[in-house]
Order: sequence, then structure tokens, then C-alpha cells
Amino acid sequence: MRHPLVAGNWKMNGNHESIAALIASLLEIRSDADVVIFPPYVYLPLVVAGIEGAGISVGAQNVSEQHSGAFTGEVSGQMLREVGCRYAIVGHSERRSIYGETNQQVAEKFTAAQAGGLIPVLCVGETLEQREQGETLAIIAAQIDAVIKGSGLGAVCEAVIAYEPVWAIGTGKTASAEQAQVVHQAIRQQLGDSGAKTRILYGGSVKAANASELFMQPDVDGALVGGASLDAKEFKEICKLA
Ligand code: PGA
Repeated sequence: MRHPLVAGNWKMNGNHESIAALIASLLEIRSDADVVIFPPYVYLPLVVAGIEGAGISVGAQNVSEQHSGAFTGEVSGQMLREVGCRYAIVGHSERRSIYGETNQQVAEKFTAAQAGGLIPVLCVGETLEQREQGETLAIIAAQIDAVIKGSGLGAVCEAVIAYEPVWAIGTGKTASAEQAQVVHQAIRQQLGDSGAKTRILYGGSVKAANASELFMQPDVDGALVGGASLDAKEFKEICKLA
């Protein structure tokens, strides 16, 4: 019922040359899953043009909570939609921890992304300390609750949620498939009946070698891939496994 989704978050990596090579290789993706890539803002039009016809969607790594006006350095959901984005990541843990985005701001970005015609990919996740204190499920519930309060349950169920334990991002440590399933199931329960259709991705050091086990879990509907999405061979393999 839920169609798998594999998302590649390129973060602040790449240049014209490396991106052209990556796109050329991604054109060969053969996957039953939906695939979306998230290049840095400035390369979005180039990537949208480069992957045309390949059945791959493009998204933005961030979006402003504002619609337009005097907000230097910001980019709105409508602008992203206009240059061909379909999705936008909101609340990535790097935005939360390095740039101080709060649950409230993430909720506002979520609303603005949807208002701009984008599908938000809402990232949630606990730090290692929070996990060790037994706070994982409460932290994630609060992160999602803030967005439900801002946009409504229906809007959250229409979006994509990505569970990314902070301790697993870029560290080579993946949550075990069982640990991921526990959290994914709790998220789905929080969403109630309408959550049956919501795609919940796992993210954090996903590679071809650990993807199958994660994808076998009943509430894991795909992956948000960082580092491995810059390696065309790895990313294609993950897409094939989804
Ligand atoms: P990683 O990043 O796959 O490099 O751990 C995932 C993410 O931050 O989305």
C-alpha cells in the first residue's frame, strides 16, 4: 500500500563536474521505489534539467518559513517549486543542532513547504544521550507533535517522515533494524489511522550492505541516505533493494 521511497541528501557536497558525473550515472537507476535527490540549492535547476525523463524527483535540503520579502539568504517553498522541486527536507538534525532550529521553527517550515506545493520530508531523531536516558520515543513524539499542532494531523500524514537517530548520522553506526522498527512503529501509532499511508524513512549511515535488513521491517518504507548517496553505485544498489 505504501510505495517505497529512497531519498539522497547530498548535503553541502559537489561541484559542476562531480554533479554531472553523478547525474549521468543516476540516469541508469532501475528501481520500483520512488527516488528523490536533494542537491545544494544552487545546483537545483541544473539537476532538474539533467535528470529529466529519468523518473527521479528533486528536492531541497531546507526551506524558509517565510513566503517572500526582506529575508536575506532565504529561499521560499514557492521558489523551490518553481525551479522543479517536489520535496523539501525540514528539521534535519544538522539544521537543528548547528543552526539552532527549534521544533517551532521546524513546524513553521513544514507549513511553508506544504503551502508552497512541496512534500515535506520531516526529520526527527534523538541524540545518543537522549537514547541512553530512555527518552527516545518521547523526544520523537514531541518533534512530531509540534508539527501536528502547526499544520494538523492530516497534513503530517500526507508528508514523509524520516527517523534519523542523530548518533547514526555520518558516524557509520546504524540503528539495528529492530531499533528502527520500534521507533517507526511508535511514529505510526502516534499518527493514528491516517498514518497507515504515511511513508516513514530510516536515515543514518544507510548503505547497500545494511539496507535490505532495514527495508524488511514492516514500518520502514525506505531510506534517507546521506554519504552513500554521493556514490552512484551504492545509491543505485540501495534503490534496487527498496
Ligand atoms: P548519512 O546521513 O547517511 O551520511 O549518515 C544521513 C542524513 O543525514 O540524512
